[in-house]
Amino acid sequence: MKTVNSIKDLKGHLAQERLKTKHIGFVPTMGALHDGHLSLVKHCVDENEVCVTSIFVNPTQFDDKNDLTTYPRTLDKDSALLETAGCNYLFAPSEKEMYPEPDTREFDFGNLACVMEGVHRPGHFNGVAQIVSKLFYAVGPCKAYFGEKDFQQIAIIQAMVERLNLNVEIVPCPILREADGLAMSSRNVRLTAQERTQAPRIAQTLKESAALAPDKTVRQVRDFVTHTLNNEPLLHVEYFEIADRHTLMPIDRWTDTTRPIGCIAVCCGNVRLIDNIMYNV
Ligand code: PAJ
Repeated sequence: MKTVNSIKDLKGHLAQERLKTKHIGFVPTMGALHDGHLSLVKHCVDENEVCVTSIFVNPTQFDDKNDLTTYPRTLDKDSALLETAGCNYLFAPSEKEMYPEPDTREFDFGNLACVMEGVHRPGHFNGVAQIVSKLFYAVGPCKAYFGEKDFQQIAIIQAMVERLNLNVEIVPCPILREADGLAMSSRNVRLTAQERTQAPRIAQTLKESAALAPDKTVRQVRDFVTHTLNNEPLLHVEYFEIADRHTLMPIDRWTDTTRPIGCIAVCCGNVRLIDNIMYNV
């Protein structure tokens, strides 16, 4: 695996690779890699001759500066994990490389950015679109792999690719979980021992709620999830929405969509966790 720090070098290497192959796969990350990230790398390695992974903790997508400063950074360990996973290029740019000058672009994603994470993390998706578009310009035409844990992020990036006419195919990949159901996240290492024992209640409660649909109404299922989790001493539900999987607009009745998804954000102590579940109705 080659580690590359500049856009110019990355473009140079990939131009050489393109003389030999058409199939370049790309996995954008912020590092502190866990098995969830590595499952994306595995999909990418399996489906492409060349796999590029980026590690960049993108300041413009952090609405909470404390979250940015405490975000785990483990580049040496990450690099070893990527090497073992069969990644060919690690792109690890500096902040100056990605933002030689402030990025003032404002994206308008309409309703997609006006719900859930868009409401609770103002500016977050604009920052994601800024960095992912810059990364896509650097990598060029590719298949790009994203986890369904960040379901709304995939919808936003898909919309961005369409708006900017980028030659990138987005490949959604399933959520990887710990044995007790907790969705893997770089932020999980920040949970105290006590918080770590409560955090799996999020996934467990979502799973229990799936068994209630469609006999219980959307509202009853929503209330069940919110009340159950808020009754746990260390958990506080920021939002739980049941929405259409495509438009992300909240629904009132199961018949409003054939493809409902429940998306949740929960504060577990100081750590903000997100998860989701597909309902089969
Ligand atoms: P990060 O949180 O590091 O996640 C990188 C990718 O890994 C995302 O596509 C995310 O959905 C996926 N991922 C995280 N946990 C996962 C899990 N448990 N199972 C499957 N996939 C998982 O998402 C970002 O970084 C950033 O916003 C980024 C797109 C890199 C832009 O800065």
